[in-house]
Amino acid sequence: MRERIVIANWKMNGSREANALWVSNFLAEPVRLSCRTVVCAPFIYLPELTEACRNTAIEIGAEDVNENASGAFTGEVSAAMLADFGIRFAIVGHSERRRLYGETDNRVAMKAVTLVKNGIRPVICVGETLEERERGETPAVILRQLNAVLAVLKPESIGAIAYEPVWAIGTGKSADPATAQTVHAGIRARLVQAAPEAGKLTPILYGGSVTPENAASLFAEADIDGALVGGASLNAQSFYSIGEALC
Ligand code: G3H
Repeated sequence: MRERIVIANWKMNGSREANALWVSNFLAEPVRLSCRTVVCAPFIYLPELTEACRNTAIEIGAEDVNENASGAFTGEVSAAMLADFGIRFAIVGHSERRRLYGETDNRVAMKAVTLVKNGIRPVICVGETLEERERGETPAVILRQLNAVLAVLKPESIGAIAYEPVWAIGTGKSADPATAQTVHAGIRARLVQAAPEAGKLTPILYGGSVTPENAASLFAEADIDGALVGGASLNAQSFYSIGEALC
């Protein structure tokens, strides 16, 4: 049975006050979600959130990590530092990092490796731009991004793959379930090719304008094992509803 996971990616949003309110609103929901629930937040909030969510259904993750172990990398945060604070998940290769900060496939793979070495589950984002989709390059782009990671990590070390079509992020235009499923099935096939048994177990999440309204139809697809949620995760009740649709 594959693990089902819902992950919030708050991106560069939040404040100490808003975060505390979010946690209290989420925990006020009467039924505890049965699937894994992770909130990825800006580095500076991670210790306080970890404390606030101790012994609750919420696990805390990071939105990024530096690929080096330590040293002269001003402004960066290492995987060992995250582990020091009990962080168990971190997103790598988000398209915003690839596009705005020039992260290459190779660098994303190195980030995933340093996380695994420190006992943190990497949530590896892949996804094509609109232009790539229109040129019919989606399968090739996803495969290239995935292969960079599979060159250095076995599927059993991958915390989750998140398929996030860049054209669906923050646009209100989610991929329709069948379109997403086609890509997820391709990712699954590649994982199984790399490791016939373990590849069946890697959760593949969908991200891109997931809302409480469209979540159930996405989660009904065979290879959509959860979601990486941006905008809708900023509201605790909306994120809970998405989790409810999954669990
Ligand atoms: O990491 C989350 C994705 O970028 C999706 O963001 O739900 O606001 O479209 P979104």
